[in-house]
Amino acid sequence: GGDFNQKIDYVFKVVLIGDSAVGKSQLLARFSRNQFSLDSKATIGVEFQTKTLVIDNKTVKAQIWDTAGQERYRAVTSAYYRGAVGAMLVYDMTKRQSFDNMARWLEELRGHADKNIVVMLIGNKCDLGNLRAVPREDAQEFAQRENLFFMETSALESTNVETAFLTILTEIY
Ligand code: GTP
Ligand code: MG
Repeated sequence: GGDFNQKIDYVFKVVLIGDSAVGKSQLLARFSRNQFSLDSKATIGVEFQTKTLVIDNKTVKAQIWDTAGQERYRAVTSAYYRGAVGAMLVYDMTKRQSFDNMARWLEELRGHADKNIVVMLIGNKCDLGNLRAVPREDAQEFAQRENLFFMETSALESTNVETAFLTILTEIY
């Protein structure tokens, strides 16, 4: 398109973390390409996508990093977090365990990332509301205690995906 000579004012690195199968890669696919796949394969190692947007008349290039939730597929952790200014901590709101593990993911994040990193807790798959296993209040309480933003999303139905990323990027900015 017409962005060949586009001047980039900021590059913001945002990392996605959380258990396997919570929907990290599909949130990224939805945000960066407006795509979704039901037979998404587990991520191996690290992948990233970029999306350029305008915030407050500044051109911001979001560089979103996505890694494996499965321990055996994860790449070197410190490199993943290096330079990150935002993070999304993703659980599946139909899987209680994925929410209970958020404390461990947060601990890993705090151990490796910059202390000023903007963190958002994401309860994904809100299209499956009838299978909800994590009350919104539980997540809100955790988010409040840990000083995180919180949103429920659906990569499948596009609910709050753009809003979640934009909120993080705007906070960073
Ligand atoms: P790892 O790469 O193993 O860490 O998993 P992941 O967190 O990247 O999960 P992924 O995005 O691959 O999604 C796992 C499964 O959940 C796939 O079958 C997706 O289609 C499905 N999924 C992802 N987001 C949603 C959603 O919002 N709603 C529903 N119903 N399914 C979703
Ligand atoms: Mg993945």
